[in-house]
Amino acid sequence: MPDKKYTINEVLSLFEETPPKEVLIHFLTTTDSAEIEAVRIAAEKTLLKYCGDNVYYRGLIEFSNNCALDCGYCGIRKSNTKVQRYTVKEDDIVKAARWCAEVRYGSLVLQSGERHDRQFIEFVERITKRIKQETTSSILPQGLGITLCVGEHSLETYRGFRDAGAHRYLLRIETTNDELFKSIHPNQQNLDSRLKSLEYLKEAGFQVGTGVMIGLPGQTPEMLADDLLFYKKHDFDMFGMGPFIPHKDTPMGNLPVMPEEQRTNLGLMMIALTRLLTKDTNVAATTALQALDPIGREKGLSFGANILMPQLTPTEFRENYLLYENKPCVDEEKEDCLNCLKRRVEMVGRIVAQDQWGDSRHFFARNTLFS
Ligand code: 5AD
Repeated sequence: MPDKKYTINEVLSLFEETPPKEVLIHFLTTTDSAEIEAVRIAAEKTLLKYCGDNVYYRGLIEFSNNCALDCGYCGIRKSNTKVQRYTVKEDDIVKAARWCAEVRYGSLVLQSGERHDRQFIEFVERITKRIKQETTSSILPQGLGITLCVGEHSLETYRGFRDAGAHRYLLRIETTNDELFKSIHPNQQNLDSRLKSLEYLKEAGFQVGTGVMIGLPGQTPEMLADDLLFYKKHDFDMFGMGPFIPHKDTPMGNLPVMPEEQRTNLGLMMIALTRLLTKDTNVAATTALQALDPIGREKGLSFGANILMPQLTPTEFRENYLLYENKPCVDEEKEDCLNCLKRRVEMVGRIVAQDQWGDSRHFFARNTLFS
């Protein structure tokens, strides 16, 4: 039935079990606004049923843009000599973390370019430990929840990060299609090692998040459907994904991409389908969505996301952490984000959770199943 359009209840019943790939492709390609709205509402209902109406914040500290990699899409790739390289001072990172705890965000993400040298690994361990110690209070008895987003490492390194006190880790797969992965990365990087790192992260005891870029040149709806099935099969706890946004100082800066509105809508559909498939996971409404649409993040929430990542990177460094162009909130003072985001969350009828880690319920479900 190629012309079949699904209603809310039909969408919900299709997703009681993992639907066939064709169903995912159908939703990834539909342009029927009533059907898109049915998927959105079904995703929102699934979110409210499995996760409730809380939106959890993770204050984002992009603590260094030094990077040993040369990803074809990324503005802070090693070969981009236009970027001024920085690492935020340890004390300033801790200061931003304390502010994060004071304004009751509950959790933060430490993100940086990828480096594998000892000095970097020890730096990450040190700031993680210090943040844990210096944000512990009666309100946060175990300090802020810490998510790391610092790339591929060995199992031993991941164990070290875990021991230092981080308990969540984001490592995007970017795409599960081998050919596409190769076309956007230099030869030294490969899908197998990314997959192995994701396994290591689970073995080290992290709550593990992954995600893909949406609307990459050469990416098809079939590939995105495979990405969604991969999310489900590997039982991830969290997802962060957003539209691909070309950056002019990268090799992929001038490739043809689908129009912005279409890329945004595809990003929103991916969020909704991820929610419908994985149910009790944490899904972020990413900043990249807002770069293409002024209310992109709010739309992300209404399509089933429950996580926001307010900027906490000290303002002076932000212009040198532009992974893509038009990144929002580059000049905003972090105090402004506080009010702006709260308003935006309330606008879509949801509640900002305070002083909580907001862990993925999925993590606990997958870990208690056989214990
Ligand atoms: N457009 C969209 N997302 C990007 N990222 C990096 N560069 C871009 C871009 N040009 C994403 C990648 C990476 C994350 C930190 O940012 O998915 O994993």
